[in-house]
Amino acid sequence: MPVGILGTGKYNPERRLTNQELETMVDTNDEWIVTRTGIRERRIAAAHEATSDLAYEASLKALEAAGITADQLDLIIVATITPDMFFPSTACIVQEKLGAKNAAAFDLSAACSGFIYGLANASGFIAMGTYKYVLVVGADTLSRITDYTDRNTCVLFGDGAGAVVLGAVPEGRGFKSFKLGADGAGGELLCIRGGGSRLPSSAQTIEGKHHFLYMNGRDVFKFAVRVMGSAAEEALAMAGMDKENIDLLIPHQANIRIIQSALERLSLSEDKCMINVDRYGNMSAASIPVALAEAVEEGRLKEGDRLVMVGFGGGLTWGASVLVW
Ligand code: ACO
Repeated sequence: MPVGILGTGKYNPERRLTNQELETMVDTNDEWIVTRTGIRERRIAAAHEATSDLAYEASLKALEAAGITADQLDLIIVATITPDMFFPSTACIVQEKLGAKNAAAFDLSAACSGFIYGLANASGFIAMGTYKYVLVVGADTLSRITDYTDRNTCVLFGDGAGAVVLGAVPEGRGFKSFKLGADGAGGELLCIRGGGSRLPSSAQTIEGKHHFLYMNGRDVFKFAVRVMGSAAEEALAMAGMDKENIDLLIPHQANIRIIQSALERLSLSEDKCMINVDRYGNMSAASIPVALAEAVEEGRLKEGDRLVMVGFGGGLTWGASVLVW
């Protein structure tokens, strides 16, 4: 049974943090940020908003677009690296907020690749006949783990959530392939060191800033450039397609230069690619589903279009998927 996307939704907090405002916070400037990253502004969650609140808002819209009610959901997967708390899972909190009383729920940790990992999991459950409707959410509140005195990272990240409802679709449509990958040897390049069982929270971990996101930007950049094109190509090959077949590419939105290198490798022009990194920065697991929801809103996907989604992130992880809309 083909499995596809029945509805999409997104939520971005109202507050905008512009490059000009960042210039007053750290030693940076608009020109550096725009030329090195393509980012002009990002959204920041309000003090009362946590990841589950962002996820809830996006989920309501996805349910409405799919034309189903929360109690019809069989499973909720939330991909995030900024859960409300260690446990219960953010997926359980979203389940309660939605009133999705028939749904199982769990979180998935694959950083910026989390949404693609979530889609692969969800579609497997549906294809097996285990579940009929699965909600997959990518949601992150990266402002809560960002050190706003560190110019190397604070210009990059924003908050947001995107959600999709998955279910059966007519023959010929739906997911055609998933290519997931991981390289744990690169885990130290992108991590939060403190607060887990290895380095529990203490005065020392706070003083050492070990609860903030650490990133080796240059090495992550090289990894991203390498893996974005190859993961997309492998997913296309698994689907029996090649790059000439792509109607729309939705890449993870970390840096415009990484996106441009993927476009070059895939011989695609920018008009076949969703780009919103200028408005939101890197929202980790939320980047791809927010861009997908915007593609739908803007009418950029019509029935039969071949869509490729591809992402990379902490772990290190990567994932790509080919879908006929
Ligand atoms: N403003 C001004 N100067 C800066 C800033 C800033 N905000 N940040 C760094 N610089 C300086 C550096 O200190 C360095 O100065 P130096 O040469 O005197 O040491 C100089 O700019 C160049 O730094 P580079 O690191 O070489 O800059 P680069 O061109 O590599 O761009 C960037 C840095 C944007 C971080 C890039 O490496 C990148 O995008 N990396 C990938 C990031 C990414 O995709 N992360 C994914 C994380 S997602 C997740 O899993 C949560």
